[in-house]
Amino acid sequence: MAHAAHAADTQPDTPQSRADALLARMSLEEKVGQLHTIDASGPDPVGRLGGEIKAGRIGAVINQVDPDTLYELQRIAVEESRLGVPLLVSRDVIHGFNTIFPLPIGQACSWSPELVRDCARAAAGEAAASGVRWTFAPMVDIARDARWGRIAESLGEDPYLASVLGAAMVVGFQGDGLSRPGTLAACVKHFAGYGACEGGRDYDATNIPDNELRNTYLPPFRAALKAGAASVMTSFSDIDGVPATGNPYLLGEILRGEWSFDGVVVSDWDAIGQLITHGLSADMAAAARAAAEAGVDMDMMSSAFIDQLPRLVHEGVVTVDRIDAMARRVLLLKATLGLLDDPYGAAHRSAAPARQATLDLARRAARESMVLLKNDAGALPLDLAGIGRLAVIGPMADQPYEQLGTWVFDGDQTRSVTPLGALRGALGEHRVAFAPGLETTRSRDRSGFAAAQAAARSSDVVLVCLGEEAILSGEAHCRADITLPGAQLALLDALKAEGKPVIAVIMAGRPLTLAAVLERVDALIYAWHPGNMAGPALVDIVSGAANPSGRLPVSFPRSVGQIPIHYNRKNTGRPPQAERILYIDEIQVGAPQTSFGMSAFHLDDGYTPQFPFGFGLSYTRFIYADLVVSAGEIARGETLDVMVTVTNSGERFGTETVQLYLRDPTASLTRPVRELKGFQKVALNAGERRTVRFTLGEGDLAFSGRERRFRAEAGRFDVWVGGDSTADLHASFTLRD
Ligand code: GLC
Repeated sequence: MAHAAHAADTQPDTPQSRADALLARMSLEEKVGQLHTIDASGPDPVGRLGGEIKAGRIGAVINQVDPDTLYELQRIAVEESRLGVPLLVSRDVIHGFNTIFPLPIGQACSWSPELVRDCARAAAGEAAASGVRWTFAPMVDIARDARWGRIAESLGEDPYLASVLGAAMVVGFQGDGLSRPGTLAACVKHFAGYGACEGGRDYDATNIPDNELRNTYLPPFRAALKAGAASVMTSFSDIDGVPATGNPYLLGEILRGEWSFDGVVVSDWDAIGQLITHGLSADMAAAARAAAEAGVDMDMMSSAFIDQLPRLVHEGVVTVDRIDAMARRVLLLKATLGLLDDPYGAAHRSAAPARQATLDLARRAARESMVLLKNDAGALPLDLAGIGRLAVIGPMADQPYEQLGTWVFDGDQTRSVTPLGALRGALGEHRVAFAPGLETTRSRDRSGFAAAQAAARSSDVVLVCLGEEAILSGEAHCRADITLPGAQLALLDALKAEGKPVIAVIMAGRPLTLAAVLERVDALIYAWHPGNMAGPALVDIVSGAANPSGRLPVSFPRSVGQIPIHYNRKNTGRPPQAERILYIDEIQVGAPQTSFGMSAFHLDDGYTPQFPFGFGLSYTRFIYADLVVSAGEIARGETLDVMVTVTNSGERFGTETVQLYLRDPTASLTRPVRELKGFQKVALNAGERRTVRFTLGEGDLAFSGRERRFRAEAGRFDVWVGGDSTADLHASFTLRD
């Protein structure tokens, strides 16, 4: 026996061996208990959940961050349950914890993986210090429908950009290893294709053909998992008739099979129970079986697993081996997080980064998330020293909570500095005239207009903050009309009538249709929901202390009727050409049926977006020239260099995001007219010139073809490099077999 003990003693104490040793001692009920995630918010969580935890029937809790409550729940698990397996504490840490950074769609405008990583890193430190060790982020759903409220938490419309930034978030959350202080286990979501919901209605059905699934929606998940994401969350949505949470093709064949993912898969909130509502499962037993057999490990909030799996095992419907595999993945995650040795998170208690440094990071992130969409006659930057008075108007000018955006459960609005607060700080109270004009962005009560007009009349310049309150985007908050809500446009009219320059700042969780706004303003900054430091970041931009560098991660439609509209579209058999588009007002009455171009466009809105993917203005100008490729032809396995010269031809320093787009004009599947395949941020002083080099390999040319093989096909490729997805500097090359 001593020998056996000795052998056991020499076993390396790895997370795997710790998990296996625990599993070997567990009863079936205790194993299933690890698969149960429950909401611990609300009244008396200890009284409500303590018994279940003591019985080993709860594996993880969500939505509880009170330190004393968390300590007591964990104490029960560790000291009163039979095996003392700690709870996994989870939370949606989406774009910050106590300090709130810009919405993910705003952070995506930075096109900076380093910045996105650093924001996630800071959020992880704050959250881990509060006892959280598992976050349900990054959300990498490709979003091409501004009606969908969750576009706010997406990284935009493009698979490549979402892949790069989603992977950066994973690295930020998980740091140098999940046992290190201040780290969170990432959970990439929502697997998969959630953003393709019909009508832009959250939770609605998605119909995604396999080629589109593999070439558009899956790549960001693959990238996040390659970056080491510890877990995956399944989507609520029905994907081609089989809801993701019970979809063996998606979870089994692709995630577990082709990708060999062996981490934890958790359902979204009650998504297992919803398999009944979808019409896939007849009852909870069937739903539990469908989810378990598809590849789900943890059941969030439906209780299907805890209530049904033991009986299904006793009936021989679900095997013990399957339960063991599910429970082992959960135990391994807990062991990897260091929970078995430090269940109360002592190592993380001091992990929160310094508050000022975090706020400074939030300011930089907010600055780089803002996109200058219009700047007529150099209306911006403002000479804040030279202005007599600045009118600061609008329902979003002084909203410390609303500027945070959606998914900010633990956001601290006392850390917010609003545009009004920051501008008063920059100019002095006496030089700022403030009037909200409207009580909320949805208000139609114009009684505040007079005061707003008076403020404008007494000032030299009007800066008006408009948009959507945080609640108008986010989960289940979709809009069929994506214009400015309420009487905001009327407020703009009233301000314009005063004859002063009007600078509009829009804070919203989605692209809004802006044609009517653009007609009424001299300059427009799209700020999304910038987080706590909206105000200081805005002052940095409008004062010219910082040159705006944000670039759109999503196309802006001219009208809601254009949706879905995205740059990486298919060519169709009748692509529109600008010169052949006749608009509805140009059509002669009685015009014969074939009197003008038969191509893919709308008579009233044409075929181009209001603003294209990758677009953003600067206070300076960037000129592109001398695009060359290192070879006209490459063989498989070879690489190709693409070089371009970028010049800052303006009078001030600026940062450009040089973007490289590719097209495979002829292939076994039709390919998008353009696909982002590289980008580089380049900081240039006035007059400075830089040669930017991209290196393309065969993988950059590859796509998932008819045989579901990821492969590049020989033939010609077009390449464009420029400042947005309409770049016209072109070269081509050939890949030969
Ligand atoms: C929500 C969301 C998901 C979130 C989860 C836990 O319904 O769909 O993104 O992580 O429930 O809050």
